[in-house]
Amino acid sequence: MSKIGIFFGTDTGTTRLVAKKIYSLLGDELADKPKNINRTTPTEFLQYDALILGTPSYGLGELPGLATGCQEANWLEFAPYLDGVDLSTKRIALFGLGHQERYADRFASSLIHLYRLFYGNGAQIIGRWSTAGYQFQHSAAIIDNEFVGLVIDQRSQPFLTDERLQSWVAQVKPALLPALAQAA
Ligand SMILES: Cc1cc2nc3c(=O)[nH]c(=O)nc-3n(C[C@H](O)[C@H](O)[C@H](O)COP(=O)(O)O)c2cc1C
Repeated sequence: MSKIGIFFGTDTGTTRLVAKKIYSLLGDELADKPKNINRTTPTEFLQYDALILGTPSYGLGELPGLATGCQEANWLEFAPYLDGVDLSTKRIALFGLGHQERYADRFASSLIHLYRLFYGNGAQIIGRWSTAGYQFQHSAAIIDNEFVGLVIDQRSQPFLTDERLQSWVAQVKPALLPALAQAA
């Protein structure tokens, strides 16, 4: 597929909103419209070699889904479709939402499960993000002192979202483009 695929899980719509902002920043020549992962078939998903994937944090920082208290299916229900699938041709940038004031002990922790799901199947994960500018006690989504993807907090820091998105999209866009060129 010659475009970037953007997929998100959501329960109350915030991750959708952020996915749409990412889509606007990339433009429709580079990316396809963001899609809820609970309305996506594995075939549709797997046609992309360059992907941007987003998740909110729910439960005890698990992969969100019906079993973690979500009202709708989410990444947890999609994950089994990837069992045993080789994702080594995929280049993937991740983003996660959380609420650092209320969930300071597990801020944006679901993001690490999205990371493990795709990294574990061979995908190349890009787009790490500094923890500077956030205030929390613990997040599982940190490897080597950086978040494994962009972290957005629409509850405590909505005023920083657009700036963070612009900076992160500028970082991941050139890293995703070679995956499109390979697929073309
Ligand atoms: C029941 C519940 C549990 C949550 N658990 C966490 C959590 O463990 N860590 C975190 O950072 N945010 C947590 N949040 C905050 C959400 O991840 C955050 O509000 C996110 O923006 C929601 O995204 P959505 O609207 O796409 O579902 C929780 C929110 C709710 C309502």
